Amino acid sequence: MNGVVLISGSGSNLQSIIDNAPEIDLNISCVISSNADAYGLKRAEKAGILITVIEHRLFDSKLTADQEIMKVIDDYKAEVIILAGYMRILSPEFIDKYLGKILNIHPSLLPKFKGLNTHQRAIDAAEKIHGASVHFVTEELDGGPVIAQSSVEIDSTDNAKSLASKVLKKEHVLYSKIIHWYTQGRIKLIDNKSVQLDGQII
Ligand code: GRF
Repeated sequence: MNGVVLISGSGSNLQSIIDNAPEIDLNISCVISSNADAYGLKRAEKAGILITVIEHRLFDSKLTADQEIMKVIDDYKAEVIILAGYMRILSPEFIDKYLGKILNIHPSLLPKFKGLNTHQRAIDAAEKIHGASVHFVTEELDGGPVIAQSSVEIDSTDNAKSLASKVLKKEHVLYSKIIHWYTQGRIKLIDNKSVQLDGQII
């Protein structure tokens, strides 16, 4: 299945997806970055994947920038849009057009800790367990239905950095697995609020 990966930064999730792509039946047609300096672009180039930089500050509105992204997606006939550390909020028009085809990974056990600084917030809240979630993207920020999660224990010695690195390791395994479920046609977004896995609502 053809897919595009949207990034803004380091791209460690992108790297694991690149490494797993043949096994998960994914052809990464293009990596789109919202940031020209994203290290993930170097990872894509090294793997021989086409890259496009679409920086919103160079467009007169969020929608015109998102329309540019839509053009790339449609040009490559991408059937899945994989957000991997993409730090822009997508416009409603974008989400509407590709509803059910956009996946995101978020570094918390949703619905806990939507938004940013999730690791520090989990520590501050004295959580014992933290983790990552893969979900379908809908108009509610970090609020689309969760497909699967992976958890880690928070140790008393953990700080935001150590916790982030433990969670990232889990993310790298989880995301490829769920992308594979998607390319196999095993998961579907139903009515904007539920996930169907192998024909059963989960
Ligand atoms: C990850 O923690 C991901 O869950 C979040 O942003 C981070 C991106 O890291 N959405 P990387 O760019 O994949 O290394």
